[in-house]
Amino acid sequence: MNRRSFLATAGMTPFAMSSVGRTTEAESTPDQSPPYPLPNGYEPWLEIKKDALTWNVEQLSKNAGGKPVLAVLKDHAYGHGIVGVARHFESVDVVHGYAVVKIQSAIDLAESGVRKPIVLLGPTTDFELEYVVQHNIIPAVYTDRSDLLVKLAAKYNRPMKIHFYVDTGMGRVGVPYYQAMPVVEALAAHNEIVFDGTLTELTEDDDFDPEQIRRFNDLYEQANQKGIELGVRHAASSGGIFHVPVAHLDMVRPGISLYGCFPDDEAEKSRSIPLRTTFNFKTRVMYVKQIRQGDSLQYGRNYIAEKPTWIATLPVGHADGWPRQTANNCNVLINGRQYPVVATLSANHCLVELGDEKTAEMGDEVLLIGETEDQGLTAHAVASKTGVGVYTLLMHLNSWLPRRYI
Ligand SMILES: Cc1ncc(COP(=O)(O)O)c(C=O)c1O
Repeated sequence: MNRRSFLATAGMTPFAMSSVGRTTEAESTPDQSPPYPLPNGYEPWLEIKKDALTWNVEQLSKNAGGKPVLAVLKDHAYGHGIVGVARHFESVDVVHGYAVVKIQSAIDLAESGVRKPIVLLGPTTDFELEYVVQHNIIPAVYTDRSDLLVKLAAKYNRPMKIHFYVDTGMGRVGVPYYQAMPVVEALAAHNEIVFDGTLTELTEDDDFDPEQIRRFNDLYEQANQKGIELGVRHAASSGGIFHVPVAHLDMVRPGISLYGCFPDDEAEKSRSIPLRTTFNFKTRVMYVKQIRQGDSLQYGRNYIAEKPTWIATLPVGHADGWPRQTANNCNVLINGRQYPVVATLSANHCLVELGDEKTAEMGDEVLLIGETEDQGLTAHAVASKTGVGVYTLLMHLNSWLPRRYI
């Protein structure tokens, strides 16, 4: 929408806000284009590119020998909106299911009506385990919880699927591989418990990852010899897909690369898997003024105009997920031209130096992160100029930002 039509329709906004209120992502319908909780506002928003998500997941599967993908949707699907991404992946064949870490994310997904399997990688108390099972979510299990699982199987009159979590060297979650067999046997002693899958995490140390896979496969073999089927094996996150072919196993488990970002410098440099940008982070100019020579900007007054200068104020700040470090390091795109972010960034505001001329107006659209001809505003470019890293950049895009699935 251009500035003129934006300004013409923006007057309706307060009425829409008070009568509709703010819908949650689970309540809104991300496939409508656009699903505005707040129509036509100045506030920042995200445009999520569904075609790019499909392209990326298909490329990742192809590069892992056609293996199915357990799509990691943790941390609000790396900022892309957990329900919106899952609803889109429902119709993408290579996506087997979804992995999340927080129980609330798993519940939100289950309640959104998606039909593919949801695997909860995070911990559950006994109370939470029942809640999870009620919602048909598959829990990760790394202790002998057979008593409770058997009770729940009887109560809900169905087998209890689990993904068995093995620690092959990461040292944070999972039963250590050398202590795993007794736990496997204890769980497998009950017909009511079904090993839907078994997983481990790679340390992303190129020399050690193959040893982890050897340990993992060895456990699998030991179980097989005792007649125990451990289900679908999965280990490879994005780094494993790029660098460790032996880790592709039966299924792969990427996160960051689904969202168009490379897991490390080596993968970014080689671009051996051609990922596409999956989002634009945008806002609108909320105010434009010319300041005088000697006038200052923002807290701390670390910007003093050397001459009369046009300044645009944007209603976006570090609380939205636009990093503080963008000030004096990054540009934004307005009307086809890039301008520097200046002064200091505050929670809700950002200032842009337009220069000698008034080249922007209130209501003009601003691209903060996304694709430009020079690729200077991609997530990787912003992450590198600010020093925050792509994982942090994506995962800190605030969940309150409206997401428009295009
Ligand atoms: C267990 C597990 N698997 C897979 C992933 C996805 O990792 P990446 O985003 O590097 O692909 C994560 C992310 O932290 C994870 O914790």
